[in-house]
Amino acid sequence: MDKALAYAAQHRDRFLADLIELLKIQSVSADPDRADEVRRAAQWTADFLARIGMEHAAVIETGGHPAVYADWLHAPGKPTILIYGHHDVQPEDPVEKWTTPPFDPVVSDGYIRGRGTSDDKGQFMTHLCALEALLATHGTLPCNIKVFIEGEEEGGKGMTHDFVRGHADLLACDAVAVSDTSWMSPTRPSIVYALRGICYLEVKVRGPNRDLHSGMYGGMVQNPLNALGKLIASFQDAEGRIQVEGLFDDVLALTPAERAEFASVQEPEDAVAADLGVPSLWGETGFTAVERNWGRPSFDVHGLWGGFTGAGSKTVIASEGGFKISFRLVPNQDPAKVAKLVDAHVQKHCPPGVVAETTYLHGGTPVMVPADSAFIQAAAQAFEGAFGVRPALVREGASIPITAVFQEALHAPAILVGYGLNSDDIHSPDEKFKVAHFFGGIDCNVRLYEAFAQVRTGA
Ligand code: BES
Ligand code: MN
Ligand code: MN
Repeated sequence: MDKALAYAAQHRDRFLADLIELLKIQSVSADPDRADEVRRAAQWTADFLARIGMEHAAVIETGGHPAVYADWLHAPGKPTILIYGHHDVQPEDPVEKWTTPPFDPVVSDGYIRGRGTSDDKGQFMTHLCALEALLATHGTLPCNIKVFIEGEEEGGKGMTHDFVRGHADLLACDAVAVSDTSWMSPTRPSIVYALRGICYLEVKVRGPNRDLHSGMYGGMVQNPLNALGKLIASFQDAEGRIQVEGLFDDVLALTPAERAEFASVQEPEDAVAADLGVPSLWGETGFTAVERNWGRPSFDVHGLWGGFTGAGSKTVIASEGGFKISFRLVPNQDPAKVAKLVDAHVQKHCPPGVVAETTYLHGGTPVMVPADSAFIQAAAQAFEGAFGVRPALVREGASIPITAVFQEALHAPAILVGYGLNSDDIHSPDEKFKVAHFFGGIDCNVRLYEAFAQVRTGA
């Protein structure tokens, strides 16, 4: 292991140069015009894996954007770890808000800046570089490793989940290692043991068969946009409680121990409010901000459209409007079931005189790994070795939907060993990744595979 760590230290500049090459590829999975770029990122990743001595490195067709697979399976009796990441990135818009170009990464002030630096290219590359360091110095790995890097995580809905379900033998493993989460702060390395799920929907509200003059018809018909406002307002009461009937039926209540543990790691709420520039934090009454974010379902409107928003004024009753919403889910909620409850809510609360139609766009099941899992304990040991402190065991409000598919199809826990920071501004302009976390992550992963190798799987 020492030789591999020394190799990693010696090759830092080259690792960073390789990452920059990958970051220049505009693999925006949401943009159909850049599908070739997503494929190019897959090919780049497969080539890297082949070059460092991983076997069966290949671009994998999923029916959607391609994934990448490689393996090294010559450690009989040792656990098999599936390393997962995603080579697709979020769109860069609004591009005018970037201070450095999104796809021409810049290294400054200890950060590498650009789209995908933290989510997730910089993070999954910590694994590929760690594998290189081990293979170059030892010619072997301490445990069996499979690598699976997908190309459509950021879209929510892709074909990759079906690929995983259909190729459980190819991907069979004892645990999945995922570096796609973040730390509470630079001094609080964190391992995530639970992710929220998601249920994403679109609602269309239709009224008259054409746009109408609001003087000639105002007062005679339900205005679809007035109705839309009422419908959106119906989802939540003034105290932030979600009003969808049955939505809380499967919600696993937070235990007093969990609430105490959350309180011990949470940042002061006024500091978070100040950082975000809001007068105060807000949400479901009776819960702290971190409890609401990690352990309670939440509801958000992502966009709404309809009618006249141009310069000046226009007296129109638009014939239709719509909105996109999502619910973040916690154990043991099921996204498909929630989608049905939401549809029933929309039908029940749709104001008279218009028609509402719900479309379930995609879902992800929440995941939770018992914190006493041997793989989490092993990961904690690797973190302590690499960063000098015992990591915090935390939950996360965001989602990585495929992790639930791994748990269901492969019966393997997702071990979330991320190296990002909450302040990395992922999905936003000026996304960045701390260079020390890139190098620290490589170092930590070398230790991680070694620690995983010691886990008894009984297989
Ligand atoms: N890496 C993120 C999830 C994440 C963000 C974990 C911050 C920890 C901290 C992932 O790429 C992501 O953006 N997930 C989406 C999933 C959605 C598209 C279904 C999310 O959570 O919105
Ligand atoms: Mn991600
Ligand atoms: Mn993301």
